[in-house]
Amino acid sequence: MIEFDNVSKTYQNKWPALVNVSFKVEKGEFVFITGPTGAGKTTILKLIYAEELPTTGKVIVNNKNISLIKKKELPFYRRNIGIIFQDFKLLYDRTVYENLEFVLKAIDIKGDEIREKIIRTLTRLGLAHKKDCYPYQLSGGEQQKVAIARALVKDPEIILADEPTGNIDEEASKEIINIFKEINLMGTTVIMATHHSELPQLLKKRRLHIISGRIAYD
Ligand SMILES: Nc1ncnc2c1ncn2[C@@H]1O[C@H](COP(=O)(O)OP(=O)(O)OP(=O)(O)O)[C@@H](O)[C@H]1O
Ligand SMILES: [Mg+2]
Repeated sequence: MIEFDNVSKTYQNKWPALVNVSFKVEKGEFVFITGPTGAGKTTILKLIYAEELPTTGKVIVNNKNISLIKKKELPFYRRNIGIIFQDFKLLYDRTVYENLEFVLKAIDIKGDEIREKIIRTLTRLGLAHKKDCYPYQLSGGEQQKVAIARALVKDPEIILADEPTGNIDEEASKEIINIFKEINLMGTTVIMATHHSELPQLLKKRRLHIISGRIAYD
């Protein structure tokens, strides 16, 4: 369902962030992307989300070459992808509830279903009591959970999680990892970039290890 075919990515024609990267991820897989800072983990996720395009090579998602997606088709393409950005990218002038509502309205979900989906997702993450708070009224870990809730609320086929446990304590991390495990068991493909190199082994999951933009092992 996701295929990188000899992908290289060079930002602003300078330093190559990815070099000849090829791999495939099947529907329903749970894959960790590990590697040191600057290795290219976030770049891989941005390519899948079509936020960046490869400099050479092909990124194919659900049989679509992302380089051929027209700008106006991007929202439709992204409907099925939930992404948790490393820096959250929450809407800071909207409440937690409104941040999630924004996502659902953008994909034409209406009325009671909006409320039901939001409350269900916030409850699952233990955030229901914060629904009327603005992001700046939340701790870093709570903001991270909002970012996760926002990715999950639309029940996507693919979840891209960039360091989703970067700002939370060990207990909360376990809780978050368990939620991703559950979602994966329901059939969602999960791709998670992390510095926590022990996680793949702990969860007995596939690991793509990236060093300086190349796959060191798969
Ligand atoms: N928008 C950008 N413009 C220019 N260079 C960039 C950009 N984004 C990333 N890079 C460069 O590409 C390389 C890979 O970055 P990337 O963010 O993918 O690494 P990462 O593995 O996610 O790192 P980290 O663990 O710190 O999050 C780095 O050298 C980085 O400086
Ligand atoms: Mg990163």
